[in-house]
Amino acid sequence: LAQVDFDVSSIAEGSSVTIIWRGLPVFVRHRTAAEIEEARAVPLSELKDPESDDQRVKEGHEQWLIMIANCTHLGCVPVGESGNYDGWFCPCHGSHYDTAGRIRQGPAPTNLVVPEYEFLSDTMVRIG
Ligand code: FES
Repeated sequence: LAQVDFDVSSIAEGSSVTIIWRGLPVFVRHRTAAEIEEARAVPLSELKDPESDDQRVKEGHEQWLIMIANCTHLGCVPVGESGNYDGWFCPCHGSHYDTAGRIRQGPAPTNLVVPEYEFLSDTMVRIG
């Protein structure tokens, strides 16, 4: 399917689910206030692939982080809520992503990819 509509209301704060879109796994994470704050406190100058937290989420829906779940190094699926930056850790070759899915350490060249998406309502998101 080119587009997938997904209801995020059952995802508790601090947890995430993986859905499939165009054959790709996609993380939908309900971030805590602390995770958002942690992502926003990082100076862009510290980032290998500089993107602010607001560039990676939708205004008014900052708690939702939606990203293609393939490491940008060689495509493994990183493990959530782990790594040195409280986000994701890719066990294949040791890439660490932060709570905005930005690469912080390891061989991955770029941040986890945010697909096109929009919120149709407070809880319904359309990916694609
Ligand atoms: Fe993730 Fe290599 S595929 S670090």
